[in-house]
Amino acid sequence: MSSAVAAIAPAPAGDNSRAAAVAAARACFPILGRSVHDRPGRPGPSLVYLDSAASAQKPQAVIDAMVGAMSGYYANVHRGIHTLSQQSTDAYEGARARIATFLNAPSPAEIVITRSATEAINLVAATFGRTFLSAGDEIVVSVMEHHANIVPWQLIADAEGARLKVVPCDDRGVLDLDVYERLLGDRTRIVAITHCSNVTGTVIPAAEITRLAHARGIPVLFDGSQAAVHMPVDVQAIDADFYALTGHKLYGPTAIGVLYGKAEWLKRLPPYQGGGDMIASVSFEGTEFKGPPERFEAGTPPILEAIGLHAAIDFVDTLGLAAIAAHEHRLLARATAALQEIEGVSVIGTAPDKAAIISFTIDGIHPHDLGMLLDRAGVAVRVGQHCAEPLLDRFGVGATVRASFALYNNDDDVGRLIEAVRAAKEFFS
Ligand code: ALA
Repeated sequence: MSSAVAAIAPAPAGDNSRAAAVAAARACFPILGRSVHDRPGRPGPSLVYLDSAASAQKPQAVIDAMVGAMSGYYANVHRGIHTLSQQSTDAYEGARARIATFLNAPSPAEIVITRSATEAINLVAATFGRTFLSAGDEIVVSVMEHHANIVPWQLIADAEGARLKVVPCDDRGVLDLDVYERLLGDRTRIVAITHCSNVTGTVIPAAEITRLAHARGIPVLFDGSQAAVHMPVDVQAIDADFYALTGHKLYGPTAIGVLYGKAEWLKRLPPYQGGGDMIASVSFEGTEFKGPPERFEAGTPPILEAIGLHAAIDFVDTLGLAAIAAHEHRLLARATAALQEIEGVSVIGTAPDKAAIISFTIDGIHPHDLGMLLDRAGVAVRVGQHCAEPLLDRFGVGATVRASFALYNNDDDVGRLIEAVRAAKEFFS
C-alpha cells in the first residue's frame, strides 16, 4: 500500500494533504474509475458510489489476496497434511487471529467465522434460544433493527413461547434509554441490538447498554454490521457478550461474517449446524463435538473469503478507523447541511452521534423515482425500506433515499449528489 494511502487522515494538516490522501485511497478501488450509462463513443457520467451501507467496494489489496490464494496455495483447510492445505489452514487461521485483534477480542478462539452477519445472529438466536429461552421469557430489541436482528429472534421466540420487547427511539432516531432500562425485567434473557442503524446512522451508547443489562445478569448481542465499518470497535471496552459483523460492508468479500462471543458464552452454546470439521468423533451411537469456535463452523468454511477479509482489515487498519470516521463525518456534515437547504427535503435521523449514513425524502417525489434519476446522473444510492420496515413505520414513511459514505468518497461526490438531487427536483417541479 502506498504511503499516501496510509496518510488518509492521521494528520489533517490541511485540505490539500487530506484531498491527496483521499485521492490515493480512492485509487486503490479500481471500480471507482468507471462510468455508468455509457453509449457507443460517449461515456456516461463517472460513478459516484454512495451505497456502501448496502455493500462496500473492494480495494485492489483484497482482490489480489483472493486471486493470490487461488493461484498460489488454495486447498481445503484443517483436513490435509499436504503443503497447500497447511498453507491455506495457516491463512484461514491467520484471518481469525487478525479479526480478533481488529475487534480487540481476548482470543482468536472467541471468533467464529460465519457466512454473514445474518448467519452469526441466527446462530446465537437458535442456540441461545434453544438453551436458555422458555415460555414467557423476553428478548429486548430496538425499533432500529435491521430485519436480520428481528426475524431470527421472532423465529426462536415463536418456537419457545418467548416474546420480543422493543425499545423505541425519538424523532431524531436517538434510542430511548429510559424505556430500555424499564424493559430489562425478570424475564429478559438477552438484549439484541444494533450498534449503528443502517437507516438513520444512529450510533447507540453500547457500553451503557451492556452496563445496564449486565447489572441484571442479561447478556447483550450487538449487530455491528454498520458500526464496524465506521468506527473502531473494542468488544472488551463495550463488554459485548456477542458481536456480529459482515465482511462485504468492510471492503471485504461477500459470503463471510464474524461472530465474536465471550468464551464463557460460546462454551455454553450447543452446535448450530452439524457436519464435518465441528466434530471430535462420530459414530452411529452418538457424536462428540469440538469446542468453540470449531463447534460452530460445520462444513468447508469460507476460506478465500476469510483471506479477503484479512486483507480488507489490514487495508482499513492502515488508514485507521478513527481517521476514516473523521473523514466520513466531515462529508456527512457537508451533505446533511446541503440537503437540508433544499426545499422539501426531510432527513430521517439526526442523532448527535451518527455514522455517515443519510436517509431522506423529498416532498412530492417517490424515493424510487429519485433513485432512478440519481442513477442516470451516475450517483448510486439505495432506495426503499433498507431491510428495516419497523423503523420506517416509526417515521411514517414507506421508503427513503439513502446515501451512505465510505472512506473513498470525497467532496466532489457530495457535490454531485446535491447537484443531482436539485436537478431531479427541478425535473419533477
Ligand atoms: N443491510 C444492507 C443495507 O442496509 C443490505 O442496505
